[in-house]
Amino acid sequence: MKKVFISTVFLATSMLYANGASIYASKCASCHGVHGEKAALDRSKPIAGQNPSLTAKQIQAYQNGSLNQYGMGGAMKNMVKSLSDNEISEISQYISKLK
Ligand code: HEC
Repeated sequence: MKKVFISTVFLATSMLYANGASIYASKCASCHGVHGEKAALDRSKPIAGQNPSLTAKQIQAYQNGSLNQYGMGGAMKNMVKSLSDNEISEISQYISKLK
């Protein structure tokens, strides 16, 4: 019984750490475009191909409320507030490979 419980928790945890591609598709593509090609809500720059360390820094700054480049930082904060550092790095790597 205990073993079943532990493997269920493990499975749920690994699903939370789904790779950057699936997180991007479910949480980011609606505004930023499937290929990162859009200006989100007509505000942001297209993020495709952006340097991954810049993207990670920006996401963390949106999380802690310190970044608001075009008056829509609050909208981005809501989108990224639940992401772990691990997920942020996976998404940032994924975005850097978008064209
Ligand atoms: C509801 C629409 C929406 C969603 C969903 C969304 N964003 Fe954004 N994003 C924005 C807006 C609007 C801005 C500009 C915010 C500002 O004023 O600084 C932005 C800005 C950004 C920037 C900075 C771009 C620049 O111009 O410097 C990055 C990087 C980014 N978003 C990544 C993401 C990631 C990663 C996700 C998914 C976890 C995501 N966004 C989900 C709307 C969205």
